[in-house]
Amino acid sequence: MWCLELLIPLLLIIRDASCQWNVWLPRDISAMTNSCVVIPCTFMYPAGIRPYRGIHGIWYFAQPYPQLFPPVVFKSRTDVVHESYKGRTKLLGDLHQRNCTLLINNVGSEHSGRYYFRADLGGANMYSYPDFSELKVLDQPNIDVPEEIVSDENLELTCYAPDNCPDMTPEIEWLYTDYLPDPVFSPEYLEEGNSAVLSNTLTFTPRPMHNGQLLGCRVTYPNTTLVYERLISLDVKYAPRSVWVNVSSEVMEGSSVALHCEVDSNPAPRISWLFGDKELLWDTASNLSLSLEDVTPAEEGIYTCVGDNGYGIMNTSLYLAVKYPPREPVVNESMTVVEGTSLSLHCSTQGSPAPTLTWLKDGELVGTITADELSVLELKDISPQADGHYRCLAENEHGRASSSLNITVEYSPVLLDESKCTVVREGVQCVCIATGNPEPIIEFYLPDLNITINETDNRYNYYTHTDGQTSTAMIKLREKGERSENNGPAVNVHCSFSNAYGRESILLELQQEKKYLMAVIVGTIGGVAVIAFIIAAVRYVGHNNKKENDSPRQDVILENPALYYSAVKKDKHNLRKKVGEDSDFQPVGPVGAMERQELNYASLEFDRGRSRGEGGASGRGDDGSTYTEIRTK
Ligand SMILES: *[C@@H]1O[C@H](CO)[C@@H](O)[C@H](O)[C@H]1NC(C)=O
Ligand SMILES: *[C@@H]1O[C@H](CO)[C@@H](O)[C@H](O)[C@H]1NC(C)=O
Ligand SMILES: *[C@@H]1O[C@H](CO)[C@@H](O)[C@H](O)[C@H]1NC(C)=O
Ligand SMILES: *[C@@H]1O[C@H](CO)[C@@H](O)[C@H](O)[C@H]1NC(C)=O
Ligand SMILES: *[C@@H]1O[C@H](CO)[C@@H](O)[C@H](O)[C@H]1NC(C)=O
Ligand SMILES: *[C@@H]1O[C@H](CO)[C@@H](O)[C@H](O)[C@H]1NC(C)=O
Ligand SMILES: *[C@@H]1O[C@H](CO)[C@@H](O)[C@H](O)[C@H]1NC(C)=O
Ligand SMILES: *[C@@H]1O[C@H](CO)[C@@H](O)[C@H](O)[C@H]1NC(C)=O
Ligand SMILES: *[C@@H]1O[C@H](CO)[C@@H](O)[C@H](O)[C@H]1NC(C)=O
Repeated sequence: MWCLELLIPLLLIIRDASCQWNVWLPRDISAMTNSCVVIPCTFMYPAGIRPYRGIHGIWYFAQPYPQLFPPVVFKSRTDVVHESYKGRTKLLGDLHQRNCTLLINNVGSEHSGRYYFRADLGGANMYSYPDFSELKVLDQPNIDVPEEIVSDENLELTCYAPDNCPDMTPEIEWLYTDYLPDPVFSPEYLEEGNSAVLSNTLTFTPRPMHNGQLLGCRVTYPNTTLVYERLISLDVKYAPRSVWVNVSSEVMEGSSVALHCEVDSNPAPRISWLFGDKELLWDTASNLSLSLEDVTPAEEGIYTCVGDNGYGIMNTSLYLAVKYPPREPVVNESMTVVEGTSLSLHCSTQGSPAPTLTWLKDGELVGTITADELSVLELKDISPQADGHYRCLAENEHGRASSSLNITVEYSPVLLDESKCTVVREGVQCVCIATGNPEPIIEFYLPDLNITINETDNRYNYYTHTDGQTSTAMIKLREKGERSENNGPAVNVHCSFSNAYGRESILLELQQEKKYLMAVIVGTIGGVAVIAFIIAAVRYVGHNNKKENDSPRQDVILENPALYYSAVKKDKHNLRKKVGEDSDFQPVGPVGAMERQELNYASLEFDRGRSRGEGGASGRGDDGSTYTEIRTK
């Protein structure tokens, strides 16, 4: 009869098992430590069994069979129970109602495990049900945390407390939720398989800032001192939200630099440093330092740090500037040009910061100073003055470098003012000085006699000397017959000078100056070199004279003593001469062997680059030149 009554609510599932040995209890049940738990239980036994002297039951822990001596949790026949259950257990159900519901008070973690019921109907009718209820004794509430918490996505966290102790009803509260944005709490009561659970679900949207923060769930039983807490640390996954790198910086070439990158993301990103498109370094970490040793200008540029953690990707760049002194500029090769041509001289270099480029000619600034990589010096319609040493100077705050080239200007010859004929004791002496590049060749032409003199012959003593771009030639017309009786301009001497670019012939002026005087033209700044040259020349002549005293040519030498020396100084336009008593001339005096001879010394100083336009005789009087003539005997 009992069997049938029970069958009705349990429907057909257990029809085959009806009125057999059967028990119904929750498969799993839990309790907080120090609280209590009620394991609801009903059982069945075969209809044919007539219980003998009432219905009894035993609860075992861990094992269902008495042969294995499991700890006795409860026994209805006696009070004898295992030590750990003494005073804790009570059968709430009425066994005659087939209700085996058990209460365990003050549970501890040692009570976690399987609980088996054994029906004792008297005599041999004893049966251990194989089904059991597994008790979990918790010292903390459970919190359901999703496997992955992603920033900006809705999150539900549920805290559970078992509610299987009728006298004590738990309360659940969430801790440390003050900083959460709009948290929502939803308490719920769940009953499942004869065991009950109270829950409270916290809903909010986590942000990256919540990563690593603590949240707690607290379970309390009102009117008791029992408190249970569980803390969790939020692991909020978020895409890189900042990639920090150094601000753009400057380094000197050859030095070392460390570029630092830090990525804020969870989990740590694959962090990498790129130079342009090229990946230089990577790691899985929150920070990464890129060390560059012995930095070269080629390493100047944009460096990008990229953080990628699967939830997102982000990058930040910096510019690394590599400073270095200017490189040796590249300039044109030295060159030789003809006057009148135009040139563009190029100078280019590299440096950081960009160097300024300056062109200097013979040490003086020409053109403009540019801050470009390339400076072009335009030389238009080049004149002989353009001849010189050109230097391109590159400078920045870290240093300077320069390169140079020489420009040689070739030009047709020009007669210099000093060219003239002078009446001397034994005739007429003519000097012709011309400058040109290549150096001019000078000849004298006597139109009256229709002869050209370019070398010494029996009648004419011809002397020539070239120094750089200046040629000096001199003849002495020693035959008195070639002079007019009245000192008139009977002597016509043309000076003809030429080089590859031109030829000119000019009638030399005859100066009616004092007889027997020789012009000595000395440059003020002629200097030691000139004097040394003169001394050397004088000594050479003196030596020759001594040596040739006995030679057959003695007459010629004696008859033709005129010597002419010239020294050229480039950068002086003015012709100036030292006065005779100048100590520079002391060495001249002692040349004893030449006492009877007439010696001429000349040191010329003039502007090599003198233009043809101002080369005429007219210019001479204005330039303040003075002349002193020295006569030696
Ligand atoms: C068994 O007994 C308990 C305690 O008295 C009671 O709460 C429960 O309702 C009973 N179960 C059944 C099925 O009657
Ligand atoms: C706690 O105790 C107070 C007084 O003893 C009682 O009024 C209250 O209902 C109790 N609360 C609970 C949840 O048992
Ligand atoms: C970049 O920053 C890191 C850390 O602040 C620092 O150690 C390093 O020197 C910096 N590098 C440069 C080039 O400024
Ligand atoms: C850089 O990352 C390492 C591990 O990847 C970590 O130990 C260190 O603290 C980090 N440094 C900084 C400044 O974040
Ligand atoms: C850096 O990010 C920007 C967009 O934020 C993207 O266009 C660029 O390609 C990225 N650069 C690298 C090197 O990843
Ligand atoms: C100097 O060099 C540059 C480039 O190398 C060239 O263009 C220019 O014509 C050169 N100038 C001369 C006068 O040769
Ligand atoms: C230019 O000429 C000077 C002297 O004539 C010489 O010392 C120098 O080496 C030359 N420079 C170049 C670049 O040819
Ligand atoms: C000058 O002499 C040359 C030969 O040396 C001759 O050919 C020329 O006709 C002469 N000129 C005059 C004007 O006599
Ligand atoms: C002088 O001129 C003649 C004829 O032009 C030439 O043959 C000779 O070589 C010249 N002498 C010198 C030293 O230049």
